[in-house]
Amino acid sequence: MTQTLTIARPDDWHLHLRDGAMLRAVLPETARHFARAIIMPNLVPPVVTGADAAAYRDRILAALPQGTTFEPLMTLYLTEDTDPADVAAAAESGLVKAVKLYPAGATTNSASGVRDFDRVRGVLEKMAEIGLPLCVHGEVTDSDIDIFDREAVFIDRVLDPIRRATPGLRVVMEHITTRDGVEYVKANDTDLGATITTHHLVINRNHILVGGIKPHYYCLPVAKREEHRLALRTAATSGDTRFFLGTDSAPHTDSNKETACGCAGCFTATNTLSILAQVFEEEGALDRLEGFTSRNGPAFYGLPVNEATVTLTKGDAVSYPAKIITGEGEVTVFDPGFPLHWAVAG
Ligand code: NCD
Ligand code: ZN
Repeated sequence: MTQTLTIARPDDWHLHLRDGAMLRAVLPETARHFARAIIMPNLVPPVVTGADAAAYRDRILAALPQGTTFEPLMTLYLTEDTDPADVAAAAESGLVKAVKLYPAGATTNSASGVRDFDRVRGVLEKMAEIGLPLCVHGEVTDSDIDIFDREAVFIDRVLDPIRRATPGLRVVMEHITTRDGVEYVKANDTDLGATITTHHLVINRNHILVGGIKPHYYCLPVAKREEHRLALRTAATSGDTRFFLGTDSAPHTDSNKETACGCAGCFTATNTLSILAQVFEEEGALDRLEGFTSRNGPAFYGLPVNEATVTLTKGDAVSYPAKIITGEGEVTVFDPGFPLHWAVAG
């Protein structure tokens, strides 16, 4: 008997679409299965103002293949010069759904991020007042902090102080990679949620480093020890509504990954749903997949659940292209390292 699972159409609460030729190549990979996505603003130069976000949204919509529906949920890149009134106007018009905090230097294209948190106090207070979520790349950048500890230290040194100083601020801890991240979310109230990526449910740091260095498993925050991966799997499949999918699908060309100083980012848009179905099945939690991919995120953001659905069917191994071709070069699709048996139909 064929096993099928029909769920509300998923959304991706953390996605990198880039721009130009790369945007045109990667957008269909997401739009095939996802109705909406929170679009990361770390372009070069970054998406800083409401006007930048409106122009970027128009470029995304123009890049959609004909007949495809997909709604980009725009974000603003928080800088020390961000104007609270511009943020409020962009949120009020419905254009912008969140503001993104990158500690300066934490990851790809984060040089314009925040160094002095006192300088963004006014924006954070305005966001708390209007209920606009802050999406946080939760890693400190201090050179004396080990890269594997950067998330845990961020919670204590930056995130907790910001939340205490700004009551009512709604925060999404993005792409959490540690047990510490899971526990911090669970210990707090409904103003705090977290996204979890597909790849962090699948890989730990051994996948990157054992048997030769594997650049396509390198992303930020970097994958941690196995105990952390297991904590993420438990959180994602637990049914706790504070955890939801943000793939952090982050395309870089192979030439920019397979080099002496390779870029951080795993490209998972293409096969994310098949991988997640497998993970949830392994955890005995297929009935909770829909919450993670399609219900918890809209609930946090105060948006309706999609009326459209997708159907997953279990059968022989499903194949995905190993790479997608873009105008900038080839991009390797994340390899989970095991065969996938759940196929996705519109
Ligand atoms: C992202 C990118 O390439 O833009 N890279 C990554 O490893 N996740 C940036 C980010 O989200 O940190
Ligand atoms: Zn990201």
